[in-house]
Amino acid sequence: MTATRESMKSTLTIKGLAAHDGRDVTLNGWVYNKRSSGKVRFLILRDGTGYLQCVAFVKDVQPEVFDLMEKVSLESSVTVTGTVRLDQRAPGGAELSLKELKLHHMAEEYPIGKKEHGTGFLMEQRHLWLRSSRQVAILRTRSEIEQAFRDYFYENGFTLVDSPILTPAACEGTTTLFETDYFGEKAYLSQSGQLYLEPACMALGKVYCFGPTFRSEKSKTRRHLTEFWMLEPEVAFAGLDDAMDLVEDFLVYVVGRVLDRCIEELKTVERDTAKLELVKKPFPRLTYKHAVEQLKGLGSDIQYGADFGGDDETVLTEEYDRPIMVHRYPAAVKAFYMEPDPEDPSLALCVDVLAPEGYGEIVGGSERIHDHDLLLKRILEHGLPQKSFQWYLDIRKYGTVRHSGFGLGLERTVAWICGLPHVRETIPYPRMIYQLYP
Ligand code: 4AD
Ligand code: MG
Repeated sequence: MTATRESMKSTLTIKGLAAHDGRDVTLNGWVYNKRSSGKVRFLILRDGTGYLQCVAFVKDVQPEVFDLMEKVSLESSVTVTGTVRLDQRAPGGAELSLKELKLHHMAEEYPIGKKEHGTGFLMEQRHLWLRSSRQVAILRTRSEIEQAFRDYFYENGFTLVDSPILTPAACEGTTTLFETDYFGEKAYLSQSGQLYLEPACMALGKVYCFGPTFRSEKSKTRRHLTEFWMLEPEVAFAGLDDAMDLVEDFLVYVVGRVLDRCIEELKTVERDTAKLELVKKPFPRLTYKHAVEQLKGLGSDIQYGADFGGDDETVLTEEYDRPIMVHRYPAAVKAFYMEPDPEDPSLALCVDVLAPEGYGEIVGGSERIHDHDLLLKRILEHGLPQKSFQWYLDIRKYGTVRHSGFGLGLERTVAWICGLPHVRETIPYPRMIYQLYP
């Protein structure tokens, strides 16, 4: 059966319907659920903004309408007409006394039933799984978080500068590069927009980018995607402390915004919002050295000089009720572009923000090397091709200044704020080592 081709325009949505008590309305949507008990039939309509129980008694509607309520299959597309009745017990505070039911398309048997399914199966059905109430709640929260990113930086005087996806060089190490042929030359999918933001902050002062980034992560963990979205601000004349102040202020804003506008969604995903209420300034700031000592005290076998593994981050963050900022890691475990600490050049002026409740790293940032010769030395030490970085070195030749920035992973942030066990549910179509479909 093909769908009807009539206009599906309807000015009303389920959200906000309670304001129309007693009035007759027409709404479009899909059949989310239905049940029947003799002389009365119920149909739950969903339209992406909410859920609405439609009720019909056999004596009140045409026999065809009553029949269709029985026959219509789950996820069929329909238009309902009826009278709005306030009902405190109903989700959204209203239900509909159904008068008419118009079928657009009778859905085939829906593969995702109300019973439990394995995640592997659901991931293969991602295009349909998006319709579930949990996935809708997560995607709406993600959208709110993205909007909060843009609003925060816009309101704080930053200029959005879009960075390229196809790039000639690595930013975050050569082991996770996706390579592609670029008219006979090698090109790579961007791992980070940072290198392009540094020149832009010399032009505009305070800039940010927000877009997809790519890493050929071969590990299968609950924190890694091969395609993820990163938010990256970069500020001229800013040091590490300025970057830490910025990320702290920004995260408090984002969490506050979600608590303010997504409380229904957080309820749907059963998030303990009391934990999010604790996300207030100041965030604890601890040096890498201090963090290693604390980890040892907690029974970790981490050695000074090593990077934290996911387990170390989990153990450490469980000790705190809000995000923590770990700064000054050994330069040897961090990227080539980080400014050394003048007090101890073996350390980098960098910061990782670790989210509480075991979520771990959501942000990596640093002060960048501003001296031309030191940067060149680092590029060569890391075995990076000088030719591909000439433009990046140039920035250190023409009015170079201290500058700093950070990158925040959207999906890890959504996982933390929504309290999800895995990043795969935080992005509409996740890309992971074994996931390219749909
Ligand atoms: O710490 P990372 O590698 O830092 C950078 O890329 C810097 N160039 C950013 C900057 O200073 N402008 O990545 C930043 C964040 C991580 O903290 C994490 O949240 C996220 O990006 N991230 C990932 N998220 C999902 N899957 C992956 N494979 C990720 N790799 C990094
Ligand atoms: Mg990092």
